[in-house]
Amino acid sequence: MRVLVTGGAGFIGSHLVDTLMQCGYKVVVFDNLSSGKIGNVERWLKDENFRFVRGDLRRREEIRRAVVGCDVIFHFAANPDVRAAAAAHFSDVIGTFNLLESLKDAGVSKFVFASSSTVYGEAERIPTSEDYAPLLPISMYGASKLACEALVSSYAHSLGFKAAILRLANIVGPRSSHGVIHDFIMKLRRNPKELEILGDGSQTKSYLYIDDCIDAIMLITEKFNGDVEVFNVGSEDQVNVRRIAEIVVEVLNLKDVKFKFTGGVNGGRGWKGDVKVMLLDVSKLKSLGWKPKYNSEAAVRKAAEHLAKEIIK
Ligand SMILES: NC(=O)c1ccc[n+]([C@@H]2O[C@H](COP(=O)([O-])OP(=O)(O)OC[C@H]3O[C@@H](n4cnc5c(N)ncnc54)[C@H](O)[C@@H]3O)[C@@H](O)[C@H]2O)c1
Repeated sequence: MRVLVTGGAGFIGSHLVDTLMQCGYKVVVFDNLSSGKIGNVERWLKDENFRFVRGDLRRREEIRRAVVGCDVIFHFAANPDVRAAAAAHFSDVIGTFNLLESLKDAGVSKFVFASSSTVYGEAERIPTSEDYAPLLPISMYGASKLACEALVSSYAHSLGFKAAILRLANIVGPRSSHGVIHDFIMKLRRNPKELEILGDGSQTKSYLYIDDCIDAIMLITEKFNGDVEVFNVGSEDQVNVRRIAEIVVEVLNLKDVKFKFTGGVNGGRGWKGDVKVMLLDVSKLKSLGWKPKYNSEAAVRKAAEHLAKEIIK
């Protein structure tokens, strides 16, 4: 079976590629290397089951050629910076539209889309389940993911493939090039005496280790049955930003680091559009037989240990 992974040279995409290759799939990676790195898939470049296409979803002709002969599409390409300008996120909607348009007559059977917990906005029900409504994102990133979900659903119905929409919590682990752990390590490398923390440190969210995330993606892809199904993918508990800072300081073996909180906006958020509390109800995913190996704190610690080595190298 041949699969296409958009964003396959990125953090989550490249871990998925490793697993797909180890399982014997033929894998095509489509990536413009804007935030991904060729080094993330280097080990597969000479493998006859692997093909790397450097291309951009904003150019429909490039993606149209890449999807030919693929049975399953994993759509993971996007601008991962939740604070990027609105236009950057809007171009991810265009990219998703181009990808879906290129599937006409392509004979794809399954489509798996990396959406985000941010589509829930400020959910009033915590933990938040997939049927929560109304979906009112508070960031452009969340808005773009919700728009993409709508496109995926309608194309699945009109073109006749099955689609799984994955609402991911914060995924952490080796190769991650953004997010709070990466940010703290970079800042502490520059100044090991003081750490600037965006917001008031009380933002409390769910963090999932990459291995648990890949297990979930593989299981969902194999087992989901409906025409379009939504799955939350996250850990079963939360950790706050102050505790993440403490863990990173411990992992880096630093002493007497002064935490400097920016105070943030709108009641201590890191930035406008930062959701303060996030925890997903993952019972639907667990009903497939999935169980995370790490809780949020353990995931953060393990990711910090890996990233500290990667960044210092
Ligand atoms: N990491 C998380 O915590 C998290 C949480 C929720 C959702 N997601 C989603 O999961 C997906 C993967 O995220 P990630 O953390 O691995 O980010 P990443 O930046 O490491 O991976 C994204 C990849 O997409 C590629 N890309 C971006 N725009 C492209 C375009 N127009 N054409 C072709 N390739 C393009 C990048 O070069 C990169 O390799 C993204 O859609 C992201 O929004 C991630």
